[in-house]
Parts: sequence; structure tokens; C-alpha cells
Amino acid sequence: MAVLNISSLAKMKQKKQKITCITAYDASFASIFDEAGIQVMLIGDSLGMVLQGHTNTIPVTLNDIKYHTKCVARAVKNAFILADLPFMTYSTSHKAYDNAAKLIRAGANMVKLEGGEWLSETIKGLVDRGIPVCAHLGLTPQSINVFGGFKVQGRQDVQAEKILQDALLLEKCGAQLLVIECVPLALAQRITDALRIPVIGIGASNVTDGQVLVMHDAFGISSGFCPRFTKNFLLEANDIKSAVALYKKQVEDGSFPAQEHFFN
Ligand code: KIV
Repeated sequence: MAVLNISSLAKMKQKKQKITCITAYDASFASIFDEAGIQVMLIGDSLGMVLQGHTNTIPVTLNDIKYHTKCVARAVKNAFILADLPFMTYSTSHKAYDNAAKLIRAGANMVKLEGGEWLSETIKGLVDRGIPVCAHLGLTPQSINVFGGFKVQGRQDVQAEKILQDALLLEKCGAQLLVIECVPLALAQRITDALRIPVIGIGASNVTDGQVLVMHDAFGISSGFCPRFTKNFLLEANDIKSAVALYKKQVEDGSFPAQEHFFN
């Protein structure tokens, strides 16, 4: 049962304290991350790639996320638990209500949905029904077939403006957290400054209110392509616990992500 809640995270933004988030899929790692003081644990649909060996997140099911959320929730004492709603499990508001409720019952404190303006009614409806929401903008991997690959988003002015306006709209609809993925530094800065809610970045420079990493990337155990924004913390640490502590420290002091991980 988490001790940290969305108010704790909002206060961290107000006090300019960086929020550290990492993906977790099982009780053993969740317990290590929790003891290291990581504030947010994400049961991400990245599990489709790093656990199941798929090339993208599209095959992940609600039952997959539900199972791993239960595993993580059993181990967590302090961290805030965020769970992904997988591809097409929130394609209508009513689907979103039913499926989000299952993840909350499995132990999540909040659900994450990928997309912009089209989600405004759904997010409002979820929040009205007592389900906290994290929005996810920029590179939204469930739309990989629309983007035509894992590509940086918001490099053109029109696209950047649309992402910023979507962020403002979804905050207005009740989203209490935002993840932005693979966007240039300047856009990450505009979004972080414009929103009252905490903004967590991945591939979005170090100007956001916090960072999220896929745990396999943080330990250099991802197979195949390694995105530019990742870092293997085990290279500078002797064991997993020290690597997690280093990740948290470098997020807090702003040294991770460094220039070499940014997109411009
Ligand atoms: O699924 C996931 O792990 C995510 C992060 C990359 C933000 O959504």
C-alpha cells in the first residue's frame, strides 16, 4: 500500500524537488526500488518488449498489466503505483472506466493513457468516477504504426504547439500527472513551465519535474537497439541497489539525463 500520493508528487513540483520513476514488473525489483526511495513505480506496457520479447507494446493485454501490478503492489510500501492501460483498452470511455477499475483494484494508484485531445472526455469521466489519470504525450508507443517508427515528436512548430495545447487541455480535464516522451528540450521546458501538474520526462531532457526509465535500460540488459536517452547505471555501480541509488541521485542533482541524452 503506497504512502506517497498525488499530493506528495504535486508538492515536489512546487518545491522544485525532482521526482524519480522507474518501471517495475515484479515484487523483487519493486522492493529494491521502494527501499531506494524511488517515488513512482510504473507498470509499463514496455513489459511487452522487455519481458515478453515483442518488438513493440501493442500485443500487451489488460491481464498482463493486471498481473504485474498485483506483483508490484504486494512489495511496495511507499512508492506511488502507476499502471498503463494497454492498446485499445480505453478506445471508448466506458471501456476505459471498466478496465481502469480493474487496474486500481489490482493495486494501482493511477492509470496512464496515451494520447491527446481525443481523450479529454475519457479523462474527465475517469476522474469524475474516482480514478486518477496520468496522460502520456509526445512519442506514444501504442501509436507506433501511425508514426511509422519510434521517432522524436514536436520538432516542427505546429506539432510542438499541438502537444503543448493537448497537455494544457488534459490538465484542465483532470489529469494529475503527465509523461512526455521523446520531445526536444525547448518543448519539454514550455510544457513543464505551463502545467501546474508534475511532468515526468523520458527522452525529454532534464528540465522536466521528474524522469522515468525502463528498468532494463537502467541496468543495460535490454537486447537490441538502445535508445539515445537511456543510461546503464550499472557501469558506474557495483550492484543493482547502488545503480538505483545512482539513478535517483543523478535525477535529483540534474546530471541525468545529460546533454548526450537530449533531443533538440
Ligand atoms: O511502458 C512504459 O514503460 C512507458 C514509459 C516508457 C514511460 O510508458
